[in-house]
Amino acid sequence: MTNDRFLRALKREPVDCTPVWIMRQAGRYLPEYRATRARAGSFVNLCKTPELACEVTLQPITRYPLDAAILFSDILTIPDAMGLGLSVEEGIGPRFARPLRTRADIESLSVPDPETDLRYVMEAVRLIRRELHERVPLIGFAGSPWTLACYMIEGQGSDNFARAKALAWDDAATMHRLLDVVARSVAGYLAAQAAAGAQALMIFDTWGGLLAPEMFDEFSLRYLAQIVQSLKLDNAAKDVPVIVFSKGANSHLEQLADTGCAALGLDWTIGLGNARMRVGDSVALQGNLDPAVLKASPAAIRHEVERALHSFGPHPGHVFNLGHGITPDVDPERLAVLIDAVHELSAK
Ligand code: CP3
Repeated sequence: MTNDRFLRALKREPVDCTPVWIMRQAGRYLPEYRATRARAGSFVNLCKTPELACEVTLQPITRYPLDAAILFSDILTIPDAMGLGLSVEEGIGPRFARPLRTRADIESLSVPDPETDLRYVMEAVRLIRRELHERVPLIGFAGSPWTLACYMIEGQGSDNFARAKALAWDDAATMHRLLDVVARSVAGYLAAQAAAGAQALMIFDTWGGLLAPEMFDEFSLRYLAQIVQSLKLDNAAKDVPVIVFSKGANSHLEQLADTGCAALGLDWTIGLGNARMRVGDSVALQGNLDPAVLKASPAAIRHEVERALHSFGPHPGHVFNLGHGITPDVDPERLAVLIDAVHELSAK
């Protein structure tokens, strides 16, 4: 590996400077991404065509000195493979043609086979690894069971996913049945990505923070831990570091660190130094600038990078990132400023 800073930081080993990658680094803020998506015809076609998914994965790696690549795909590929029928439309976001509406819908779900039902993802992983030529490591990913269940029940995005919460309150047994089949699907899918060549794995629990504490323990945390433990028993995945990102779940950092993951992703509502004080040296930390920082001036971006590096302090185990995905309205030049600032200011 030409550049293994990212993997070293996840193992909390010393690095020459802090590694950085950006959630949604292949996305609509890049004109080259918009051109490839137009050629693909739709976002879903882009995900399902390994050559095009590979192309957009590499676009930010070609443009910037990033320290990791992330598979271009979506967390909603699993429910799509379970038969829900995914589409993603401009201005609307993701939508399922057949959301889960009844207990029978949930009872009929089964675990997809990654190498057949999600073969296009495994092909993309293999192709990206070949085309990366060991320049930087490749991150694979999946959604958390709770976050996937939110979309599967609601059928689309929502402010509060009240329909999913209502099922948890009204019929907890059926909700657990859903979360369990999704958790087994996610674990198998991540293990298959590791076997295909993914060198780190990230679990996105984007909507974990919507849950009150007891609900979080029961419906989100428990399944995150189940997945991490199951990966530790898998031959291909057992040594692959897992990053758990439970957005808005800062009150649960200690429990999240206890899942056995290598690193925790953090949003911008907690200081890195504060988070580090709470979890100690048990895990690496990834994050956590407010994505809106990229709308500010280059001087302000550098200042915020410096502040984040200072807050984490001179310890190993930091992977720089935003606290959530980069937004489509960002000027690509501003991201270059951020990446250069991370490398330059952390090398000192
Ligand atoms: O980070 C990367 O570059 C890898 C690719 C990636 C995408 N989605 C591409 C994408 C990753 C890691 C995801 C994860 C994902 N997808 C999450 C978890 C992370 C998060 O953002 O919280 C979630 C909740 C989803 C579901 C999803 N997919 C949403 C809410 C949307 C709409 C987003 C929007 O801004 O319209 C998508 C579509 C999507 N996934 C896009 C991209 C680049 C935009 C679609 C387009 O090009 O039109």
